[in-house]
Formats: sequence, C-alpha cells, structure tokens
Amino acid sequence: MKQIIDEGIRNQQKYSHKPTVEKQYVEQAIHFILHKMDENLATFTEFFPGPVSFGNIYKPTENTDWTTSFWTGMLWLAYEVTGDPKYRRVAVIQLKSFRARVEKRMGTDTHDLGFLYTLSCMAAFKLTGSEQAKETALMAAELLTERYYDKAGILQAWGDLNDPTQRGRMIIDCLMNLPLLYWASDVTGDQKFRNMAYSHAKQAAKYIVREDASCYHTFYMEPQTGEPIGGKTCQGFSDDSSWARGQAWAIYGFPLSYIYTGDESFLDIAVKMANYFLNRLPQDDVCYWDLIFTQGSQERDSSSAAIAACGLLELSKHLPTTHPNKTIYENAALKMLQSLTDSYTTKTHPNSNGILLHGVYNKPGNCGVDECCIWGDYFYFEALVRLQKQWNLYW
Ligand code: GLY
Repeated sequence: MKQIIDEGIRNQQKYSHKPTVEKQYVEQAIHFILHKMDENLATFTEFFPGPVSFGNIYKPTENTDWTTSFWTGMLWLAYEVTGDPKYRRVAVIQLKSFRARVEKRMGTDTHDLGFLYTLSCMAAFKLTGSEQAKETALMAAELLTERYYDKAGILQAWGDLNDPTQRGRMIIDCLMNLPLLYWASDVTGDQKFRNMAYSHAKQAAKYIVREDASCYHTFYMEPQTGEPIGGKTCQGFSDDSSWARGQAWAIYGFPLSYIYTGDESFLDIAVKMANYFLNRLPQDDVCYWDLIFTQGSQERDSSSAAIAACGLLELSKHLPTTHPNKTIYENAALKMLQSLTDSYTTKTHPNSNGILLHGVYNKPGNCGVDECCIWGDYFYFEALVRLQKQWNLYW
C-alpha cells in the first residue's frame, strides 16, 4: 500500500497571519467582474466564450468545447450575488443548448460532461428548482456512466471508448466531474452513479497521486485487463513533474469526493497535495504553469491559482478546528486572491473581454499561453463569492 508523504508547509511564517481583505475590497472585485460580464452579455447569449482568449479577447463559439459551462456558471454566480434577472435570463437561454448537446450527443465523448452539466444544469436546478434542468443534468450523468471502465474502476477521460490510444486513460481533472454522478445518485436514489464516482476517486488516489503528494496529469490502465500501466503528462512539463492545474484540480476535487462519501482519506490526500502546492509558490502566490518551476521567466497560470484558492477554502471548511493547517489554507487562499485581484485582472487591459490575465491552457501544445482562460475567470469569481457570502456549492 502506497504511503503518501506529507511535506508539511515549509513557509509557515508566510501564511500564519490572516491578510486583511475588507468587505469593500471583495465587493469592488466582484463589481469589476459584473461590469465585464455586462459588456459581454449580448455577445455571449446565444454563443459562448471560447476556452481561451487570443490577445486577451475571447471569440464567440458554439456549445462544443469542454469549457462552455464556465460562462454559464458565471451567469449563475452573477444572478446569485445580484438577484438581477438579466443574468438568469441568459443562463436559461443557454440551458437549451446544453439540452440539445446531450440529446444529440454533440461533443459528449468526454468525462467533462461533469464540468459541462454541473455549472449549467445542476446549478440551475439548485438555484431555481427547474425540473427541466434537473432532467438534462441527469441525462448527462447517464451518458457519463457509459465512460466507466469496470475492470479498471475508472472513467475514461477522453475520446471514443473504442479508441485504443485513449482506452483506460484517466486524468486528475476528472475529480471535478464526479459531483455530477454523486448528485445523480442523491436525486434518483440509484447508487450506480455514486459507486462509479467513488471507485474512480479511489483509483485516482491510488494511481494518479504520487508518493511525494504530487500527481500525474494522466494515468493509463491496461485496456484489456484494467491493470495499472503508468502515468503520462499531456499538458505538464514532463511525465514526472506536477502540472499546476492538475494539482489544483486535486486540491479541490478530493474534498468534493469527501463531501459526498464521508471518506476522510480524501481529505488527508488533499492536505498533503495542498502542502506540496503551497511549497512551490513564488513570492506573489500565483503558481507557474508547472510546479517544477518556482522562479524565473516561465509563464504563471492564474487559472490554477483561482482553482486552488477555491479548493483551499473548501478543504479548510472540512478540517477540524484543531487541525494546524485549517487557518493556513484560508490565509493562503486569501493571499492568492489578493494577488490575482491586485496584479492579474484585465483592469489594466480595458479592451479585453476576459477577467483574469496570464492563464495557460496547454503550454506543450502552444495553445492559450499567457491568455485569459474561461475557467480561470469562473473560479476567480467563485472564490470571491465564497468570501462575500455563505455560498452553497454548485458542485
Ligand atoms: N481539464 C482540462 C484542463 O484543465 O486544461
């Protein structure tokens, strides 16, 4: 049985004091996001922002990529914090396209059905009680179960189920797709969804997470037998480095599996992975795109910082008050958010239609490098909403 090492937090001093984040500071940051969203509402009503910007400008796209729901999720956040029906109206228009997408199986050969239907339809159901949205999210959950490879106990990440290059491949990001399945069991009473999600989370903990509490981006299980083969990166620097966003997905994703299962081992892993992440941050607390870099001229990934901030805030909530890292994680999340707010937003780029500058989608693929990433904008907004109010998870 693999033992995962806990490095502890090397720079306790840095995170031992709670940074002052005034209510007004958070409100101004949210106000800026709402202002940018208002400028873009008409463009992104029938269309969605692409995954990443080009020269800090998102182009309008159809509902085809894995990322379209991040904008819809931002609309739900905006509706929640303002009560303004204009955001709800646009979000509801977008739900139709999510319905068509799942019915016609357009771009559904992906585990990212979780991202897509959690932030669009599951959020809609939670906020408005829409039965139509609930039904659509359940259709997506059903489709996601088709990707479960029972011999390996995992969900196949990408591509056609008969594609030998993708068969048996799981990726760390998938932890964020599991809530759709857990939720589907909660609302239907059918335990199959939950069993698959739980099995996947356990397998991810066993195989994708490494002994030093870093993680692979992707891991292959043998397509015929389900036996583990090994880890490979896709978007990271190397197979054995830790891609920053993968680590951030884990910091947020394992606590989500804890919430739905009560399995405390997920919290334990998230703590160790959070420590690994915090130990590799540069001075301003916004990580490089891969955690192998801790200084120098490589690009930062603001989107990973935003995801990690949400994850740290969630993780902290579930740790007992006696846990030494409980306040440290909160303080670290606040520091990251301060840094993002002060130095990484498009306040300095009025022509941009994004929110957070300096994200990286896929550095080895030279795609979306030092650009706005729509999920970065979403998680930055989610993190601020968490600071502003008692926020109930869409996840
Ligand atoms: N889930 C894909 C990514 O984080 O780039």
